[in-house]
Amino acid sequence: MQGMTVAEARRALSDAFRQSGIDSPELDARILIGHALGLDHTALAAAANRTLDADQAHTLAILAERRIAREPIARIVGGKEFWGLLLRITQATLVPRPETETVVEAALAVIDAGGARTRVLRIADLGTGSGAILLALLSELPCAFGIGTDLSHDALAVARDNAIRHGLSPRAAMLACNFGAALVGGFDLVVANPPYIATGEIAVLPPDVRHDPLQALDGGHDGLAAYRAIAADVRRLIKPLGHLVLELGAGQADAVTKLLQAENLVLAPAQSDLNGIPRALTASVATMTR
Ligand SMILES: C[S@@+](CC[C@H](N)C(=O)[O-])C[C@H]1O[C@@H](n2cnc3c(N)ncnc32)[C@H](O)[C@@H]1O
Repeated sequence: MQGMTVAEARRALSDAFRQSGIDSPELDARILIGHALGLDHTALAAAANRTLDADQAHTLAILAERRIAREPIARIVGGKEFWGLLLRITQATLVPRPETETVVEAALAVIDAGGARTRVLRIADLGTGSGAILLALLSELPCAFGIGTDLSHDALAVARDNAIRHGLSPRAAMLACNFGAALVGGFDLVVANPPYIATGEIAVLPPDVRHDPLQALDGGHDGLAAYRAIAADVRRLIKPLGHLVLELGAGQADAVTKLLQAENLVLAPAQSDLNGIPRALTASVATMTR
């Protein structure tokens, strides 16, 4: 691509991506060229006639190869926007997915139903990864304090960094523990997007998904292991009249509903994502905890 203009390189890259079956060739080409040249969307458009030098062409060729090998764009550029927050991601973290915003919406709906967003709230995000759900909630709830847990120390370091980048670190703590095991309880809201892929299905996942850390995906033999662990502990963690909001894998709504009903939680109908898949399940503690 050396000697090509930015516009020519963009066309060449998008043709190569299209031929290799990538879903969004033009968008991916634009993002990768912008990343390689350090230019945002507007600056890239203004630079359409600039010629690529040898270093830029080399960098771009390496990035394009990674994309053609199905490494997700977010992993290549090291960031992903979630709920309007640009989050850093690394090999230790799941790439936050648009459907997980359904969990944020469901959590805010249940908070809104209980009073003003400005009240003091305690939130726990079990399996916080990049901190996506917790930081989105803290960005909307100005007097809330949250704890994100994860087994991965590397993921927690990324979540802490994301909290600092968005000015939320004074209200966000990140803790290494097994879901909520080290937490004392008394939470108004517990949220989680736990690993929910059945172990046997991981090898046949689309190539983009297989770049996520195994620990973020593997939900045990039936995909429900994390839900069982969280359900067993949730009444200890949530205070009376508190709430749990869980992300669901496709087809898991009935099974997870049963697990939570067995803990005497009151369930609302699952909220669907933009593809119509039941994605966020809200459960509430209607009475005093056991
Ligand atoms: C599906 S990812 C979700 C990450 C993030 N909450 C999001 O929605 O983008 C699940 C996360 O749970 C973490 N995890 C897996 N098992 C765990 C456990 N037993 N205790 C705490 N975290 C766990 C993984 O390391 C991963 O970061």
